[in-house]
Amino acid sequence: MKIRAVYPGSFDPITNGHIYIAERAAAIFDEVIVSVLINERKNAAFSVNERCEMARETLSHVKNIKVDSFNGLLADYVRQQEASVIIRGLRAMSDFEYEFQMALMNRKLAPEVETFFIVTDPRYSYVSSSSVREIFHFGGTVQDFVPEVVFNKLRELYTKHT
Ligand code: PNS
Repeated sequence: MKIRAVYPGSFDPITNGHIYIAERAAAIFDEVIVSVLINERKNAAFSVNERCEMARETLSHVKNIKVDSFNGLLADYVRQQEASVIIRGLRAMSDFEYEFQMALMNRKLAPEVETFFIVTDPRYSYVSSSSVREIFHFGGTVQDFVPEVVFNKLRELYTKHT
């Protein structure tokens, strides 16, 4: 039986930390769907299409990963996709409480689905999409944290807005 996993997130934008988690998940599960949240209430810096495109380009080397987007409840989406696993990355203890609560809530909503945590590489333990956006915005160096395509999209985004 093939095991399909969903790796959900805002990916605004995708970072090397996300890529690391997606690659490790793809080495374990038969299929991984990296799924970008269509967050209408959260003000995303990049559109859903841009976020998907960046994820697609940076993960195209992994054959069993596909990129998609979703709206509404993650538990419903996972069922729709006929997946049985939710992947989440853990960077530090500070992530744990939120992730633990979310895993339990998703278990309540979809008891047949398992949340599977993958610990990040220490190089990325302090990297987040929001810190990357902020550092870039104020002229700091982010090349160690995002692939080149994402770096170029950040440049486009911030030159559009200045
Ligand atoms: O990258 P993020 O922002 O940490 O990802 C959070 C995400 C997308 C996994 C979470 O916000 C989510 O699943 N949203 C969909 C709505 C939902 O199912 N909410 C209940 C979760 S307990």
